[in-house]
Amino acid sequence: MNKIEIIKHAEQYVQRIHQNDTTGHDIEHIMRVRHHALDIASNEDVDTFVVELASLLHDTVDKKLFKDPNQAWHQLNQWMNDMQLSDEIQTEVTHILKYISFNGGNNHGKLNSLAGKIVQDADRIDAIGAIGIARTFQYSGHFKEPMHISGQSPRNLSELNQDQYHNEPNTAINHFYEKLLLLKDGMNTQRGLQLAEERHQFMEQFLEQFYKEWNIQ
Ligand code: ADP
Ligand code: NI
Repeated sequence: MNKIEIIKHAEQYVQRIHQNDTTGHDIEHIMRVRHHALDIASNEDVDTFVVELASLLHDTVDKKLFKDPNQAWHQLNQWMNDMQLSDEIQTEVTHILKYISFNGGNNHGKLNSLAGKIVQDADRIDAIGAIGIARTFQYSGHFKEPMHISGQSPRNLSELNQDQYHNEPNTAINHFYEKLLLLKDGMNTQRGLQLAEERHQFMEQFLEQFYKEWNIQ
């Protein structure tokens, strides 16, 4: 199978996986991440096939989204074998999918491929700005978290392990401080940083307005 055919198959594969998503990880998120990743990749010396493929597959094995992540990995490995992807490409895609996630800062420094860093920047662009805000409230609603609790401070990430970060009760507003506002300064690429600036500013404005409207007497 040639690369164009593999990408077409990947589109169909992820369409099936994300079609009923209401956590902010719907198929439109995946398509936007692909778009941003290819934009960033156009400034870099990188294999755009790996960038595109990993963008499409990046949320197919996420622990937050699937009840049985081992089963999700099994299904993905099966799919990559069906596509007859080389061992080299399978190893690179697997590495990217394993370490792309923010994971409460627990994956910091673990992603060591340029293609992976590009996909990570693209995923983070879609986690901030107006879309990032909308996705966060959708995620919180889906997992039955409150949007905000007066006086509840964000948690200190350096004191949390991976399980506490993901499983302890939280609020949508705290997620801004625990992740979204930290993303801009952690961008891997110049183009990623450039795309992040306006979106970051918009989130700061949003929070200011949110508190103004929340704190009425
Ligand atoms: P990552 O794996 O890096 O977290 P994803 O592509 O899975 O990236 O998208 C994560 C998005 O899901 C966040 O940017 C946010 O919108 C939403 N999200 C994840 N965890 C929470 C949470 N605890 N509260 C609210 N939104 C969340
Ligand atoms: Ni994503």
